[in-house]
Amino acid sequence: MCGWQAGAAQSVASDAAAARYRVECAAAPAASACRVDLATYIGWRVFQAQCATCHAADARGSSFAPDLTLRMSAMTQRQFFAALDQGYFGSQSTMPPRGRDPNVAPYYDELWSYLSARVTGALPAGPVERLPEDEGGSGE
Ligand code: HEC
Repeated sequence: MCGWQAGAAQSVASDAAAARYRVECAAAPAASACRVDLATYIGWRVFQAQCATCHAADARGSSFAPDLTLRMSAMTQRQFFAALDQGYFGSQSTMPPRGRDPNVAPYYDELWSYLSARVTGALPAGPVERLPEDEGGSGE
C-alpha cells in the first residue's frame, strides 16, 4: 500500500457541526497520500469526477472557474448547498445547477467535508486514501 507511519503522522480532526472531516498526513506529505475518513474520501472521489474539470483536481480553480479554497473560505454549508442546487450565475461565467444530478445531489455532505478540509488547509493538495478504520464500513 503506502509508506505511511503512525508515529510520523499529524492528525487534524474537525467536529464542528458544519464541517466534519478527519485527516491524517505523514510528516513528509510528498511521501504518501493523506488519509481521510470515509465521507471526506467519497467527497474527494465525487469532486474528481464532477467538479475537477472546471475547478481543477485540488479545487484550486482554472482559467474559467474559481479557486474554491479561496472562494469558499467564508461560505456557510447552506450557501454551498444552495450554489449546487441552483448553480451560480456570475457576470462572466456560470456553473450549471446540480440539484437533480444523481452523480452529485446525494453527495453534498461528502463534498462539503472534502472542500472544508481543503479550505482550512487541513488537507493539502494531492490524492487521498481512506483511513483504515473506515475501510469496510457502511456507506458505500
Ligand atoms: C462547467 C464548469 C463547472 C463545474 C463542472 C462545476 N463548477 Fe462550480 N463554478 C463554476 C464557475 C464558472 C463558477 C463561478 C461563476 C462566477 O463566479 O462567475 C463556479 C462557482 C462555484 C462555487 C461558488 C459559488 C458561490 O456562491 O460563490 C462553488 C462553491 C462551486 N462552484 C462548487 C462546485 C462543485 C462542488 C462542483 C462539483 C459538484 C462544481 N462547482 C462543478 C464552474 C463549474
